Amino acid sequence: MSMVLRPMDRGDIAAVAAMEETLFGAEAWSPELLATEVTVDPVSRYYIVADDDGVITGYGGLFAQRGGQADVLTLAVAAHRWGEGIGTALLEGLLSEAARRGCTEIFLEVRVDNDRAQRLYRRRGFTDIGVRRAYYQPSGTDALVMRLIQEPAPAAKKEHLAGRQRGRRDR
Ligand SMILES: CC(C)(COP(=O)(O)OP(=O)(O)OC[C@H]1O[C@@H](n2cnc3c(N)ncnc32)[C@H](O)[C@@H]1OP(=O)(O)O)[C@@H](O)C(=O)NCCC(=O)NCCS
Repeated sequence: MSMVLRPMDRGDIAAVAAMEETLFGAEAWSPELLATEVTVDPVSRYYIVADDDGVITGYGGLFAQRGGQADVLTLAVAAHRWGEGIGTALLEGLLSEAARRGCTEIFLEVRVDNDRAQRLYRRRGFTDIGVRRAYYQPSGTDALVMRLIQEPAPAAKKEHLAGRQRGRRDR
């Protein structure tokens, strides 16, 4: 297998939208929404795909502003490729980017009945912090809110400290 994780681009939207439809049905993001998300603001968004010799096998998205909180916006793997570690690799890719951006708190919402995804997140250190009632529409399913606290990447940490020192000198 020659799988790589790489940034999602406009050329991936059709394949990703087809997976959305299959995996999330009525709650799927439309191709238009996906296209907007992927292009709107690279400073706050980060979308990646798992590319296996030109075939998209999974994707993930992150909202993360430098030094702020981050949210895992989406994560999915083609059903016939589940259990190979692709979901874990994608999540790792998103969390590394969050750390590079200096984000120490990462949140996500997951359906209360999605045991498989919850196991993946718990294994990576996410813990439950609450429930959002009827978060998923049109089904009205509740969302479990999970959070991970992590260290910023070393470079982001240095930047953060330098910023604080600059702030002190300015006063
Ligand atoms: C949730 C989801 C992203 C997980 O993706 P995945 O690629 O199957 O995840 P992984 O393979 O990394 O891990 C899943 C399981 O496979 C196991 N596994 C990982 N690599 C493995 C390997 N090389 N060999 C055997 N098992 C392996 C993991 O230990 C894990 O075990 P578990 O079932 O006890 O939790 C996927 O099921 C999915 O797309 N679901 C539908 C969409 C969805 O619900 N997304 C989440 C929205 S919040």
